[in-house]
Amino acid sequence: MNKTVRAHTNIALIKYWGKADAQLRLPLMSSLSMTLDAFYTDTKIEKVTGPSQFYLNNEQQSAAASQRVFTYLKKLQDRFQVTGNLIVKSINHVPTSAGLASSSSAFAALAAAFCQCYELEVTPEELSRLARIGSGSASRSIYGGFAVWQKGDSDQTSYAYALDEKPAMDLHLLAVELNTKQKKISSTHGMKDAQSSPFFKPWLKRNDLELNEMIQAIKDNNFTALGQLAELNANEMHAINLTAQPEFTYFEPQTIQAIKLVEQLRAEGIECYYTIDAGPNIKVLCQLRNSKEIIQRFSSEFNNVKIVNASFGPGITYLD
Ligand code: DP6
Repeated sequence: MNKTVRAHTNIALIKYWGKADAQLRLPLMSSLSMTLDAFYTDTKIEKVTGPSQFYLNNEQQSAAASQRVFTYLKKLQDRFQVTGNLIVKSINHVPTSAGLASSSSAFAALAAAFCQCYELEVTPEELSRLARIGSGSASRSIYGGFAVWQKGDSDQTSYAYALDEKPAMDLHLLAVELNTKQKKISSTHGMKDAQSSPFFKPWLKRNDLELNEMIQAIKDNNFTALGQLAELNANEMHAINLTAQPEFTYFEPQTIQAIKLVEQLRAEGIECYYTIDAGPNIKVLCQLRNSKEIIQRFSSEFNNVKIVNASFGPGITYLD
């Protein structure tokens, strides 16, 4: 039976920020993420005799807005040698305003919904490869908990695997909506431009080290080591952007203010760390016992800013 598919977004703790092959979306580095329970995309794809259409949140999308989706689905059709027009219906439970990229859940859901539609039986590894072609970070949203996307060096060898689908770690992510403006530089463009930084290659060399340390921190259930590494890795990515030629940054004044607040909280003994993706918003990593206090401090500093408290989400699930 052709089911609706649910995929959750993920946040990288070790970032993917560079492509070796833009067509296949083969990355230059391995990455590691946490799948989030609070944000997800539900998608169903059906074959139709009429024209292909894409509905997002119950609204039919223009040809331009649908282009990335149908270009992607055509790639999958070619790969499996299947044809036909398609109706794609997606409901995005990822408020764009929350500062979280929806492409990870969107393309993971599309890949799985495509397989449902054509009754293709694929392994999680194959599904991860299919999602990767749509958006690199989507390769990790196939799994719950912690996932690692091993970079590989070909379409066959570049996919994510589940590191720990039911982690014991007390880990919360507070998504703070500092700035709701659309980002000016897409991830795809940002990661291309970043390669002009003199620090890009040295950063790549550190990837194995940081990834292994992060895997160890997870195995040891060591929140402090995980937070410190996630913050370092995110800052490295943003330092690369600042030293690209020409330089660019996703930071806005509120981003710096939020970083300072995290530092201040830490100085007061409230343990928390931050990570930042291709946008101005900050995600605070903390443990349950401190989450209330941190939310209160952010709310008073940023005038009742919207904050979503997320923890571990599951991998691909099939609804109906
Ligand atoms: C900063 O997966 O959105 O969130 O493959 O071009 O679609 P494309 O990029 P995308 O990039 C995500 C970048 C990041 C880090 C990460 O999620 O690893």
